Amino acid sequence: MEHIKAYIETHKQRMLDELFALLRFPSVSADLKYKPDVLKAADYVAARLRDAGADHVEVCPTAGNPIVYGEKIVDESKPTILVYGHYDVQPPDPLELWLSPPFEPTIRDNKIYARGACDDKGQFYMHIKAFELMMQTQTLPCNVKFMIEGEEEVGSDNLGTFVKENKQKLKADVVLISDTSMLSMEHPSLETGLRGLSYLEVEVTGPNRDLHSGVYGGAVANPATILAKLIASLHDEDNHITIPGFYDDVAELSLAEREALNSAPYNEEEYKKDLGINAVWGEKGYSTLERTGTRPTLEVNGIWGGYTGEGAKTVLPSKAHAKISMRLVPHQTSAQITKLFTDHFTQIAPPYVQVKVTPHHGGEPVVTPTDSIAYRAAQKAIEEAFGKAPIPTRGGGSIPIVALFEAELGIKTVLMGFGLDSDALHSPNEKYDLFNFYKGIETIPLFYKYFDELSNSHK
Ligand code: BES
Ligand code: MN
Ligand code: MN
Repeated sequence: MEHIKAYIETHKQRMLDELFALLRFPSVSADLKYKPDVLKAADYVAARLRDAGADHVEVCPTAGNPIVYGEKIVDESKPTILVYGHYDVQPPDPLELWLSPPFEPTIRDNKIYARGACDDKGQFYMHIKAFELMMQTQTLPCNVKFMIEGEEEVGSDNLGTFVKENKQKLKADVVLISDTSMLSMEHPSLETGLRGLSYLEVEVTGPNRDLHSGVYGGAVANPATILAKLIASLHDEDNHITIPGFYDDVAELSLAEREALNSAPYNEEEYKKDLGINAVWGEKGYSTLERTGTRPTLEVNGIWGGYTGEGAKTVLPSKAHAKISMRLVPHQTSAQITKLFTDHFTQIAPPYVQVKVTPHHGGEPVVTPTDSIAYRAAQKAIEEAFGKAPIPTRGGGSIPIVALFEAELGIKTVLMGFGLDSDALHSPNEKYDLFNFYKGIETIPLFYKYFDELSNSHK
């Protein structure tokens, strides 16, 4: 433990400078205009992996953005950790709400402000620095493989193919990911599940062109009004989702499981204050922690149509659109839910309009084991670094690759995230606390140590 702290202390500033350089690449995967920066970010990650001591470092091309791979095999008979992360980030919009530019990392109040600071550059970079630390102090106890992708924020379309084609190369005993949140630094936690996702776009078409809203309004159905009604009908007055069959496969938790989840510290007043809301909202009969962790949801991510420019234009739009996502829980599947939504939405459309549903990406929900060697290693590492045992929680977000690793490689994942929900992931002014960054670098080598020790004692 002491050598870890000493190494971090000596190399603190350089570690941070390197992260800043990474954060300066606007590696936004959703927008092709950033492709050159995405490629530069991949090269940068590869170079830092090489510097840290990884062998066979490659920037592997895919049909989309490249995957950075590197490994250190110390002993074939030792266990192997596969570290996954993503160097791509969400678009920074709306730009005007950022207090400092999204791709010019800035420290305020001991926090790094930048797009990707927490999700996921700041988090996966901790792994590269922890690896460097173990190499430099000759304390790397087992094998490690790194796989850092560039399409997580757009659904990891090409990662599936890469995984299927590289099963041997990716062979490992556990996947270790830091891309989730803790409750707080005072209440360290480990996420033990992630929700799945079904993401789609709907288009409602009325008349064959935009119309004068005075000449035709009142006599022709307005697609924007119809879309609003259709969307509103997807939740009932108890905020249950109305799509027939939507809840059929949902795994209900036992009372004991619900109690355990609800015993995690949660302060509703602080929650509301942080978000600037007067009251929470959600499915009747469930707590906020359950609503975000164990229940499926349906959200409108964006809605548009007609005239949205400056001033007023009197128009009855020809089309209205919305992007809709559903978060899934065991044992829902994204294919089934996408089908149920499509059938329902098409069926409830009134005769005055036509609707089109276009599926985007999806991902399957997962629960990660809490009785594995790897989970216990993570518990011990966090307990030692934070002075407190981690609380198990269920995450609301999605990392579709976790289910894929399980299905294709047969490997389970440990979600050892160091972010906070209040780090404003995907929002303006995303941040990552310096404390969390260094604490992560301190915790990761402990995970390696305990994972190796516990693996040995189980041989
Ligand atoms: N790191 C997040 C997922 C996350 C955040 C999990 C916080 C748990 C807590 C990841 O980068 C992400 O944003 N995933 C997307 C899904 C993807 C298919 C676009 C998501 O959850 O919306
Ligand atoms: Mn992420
Ligand atoms: Mn994300």
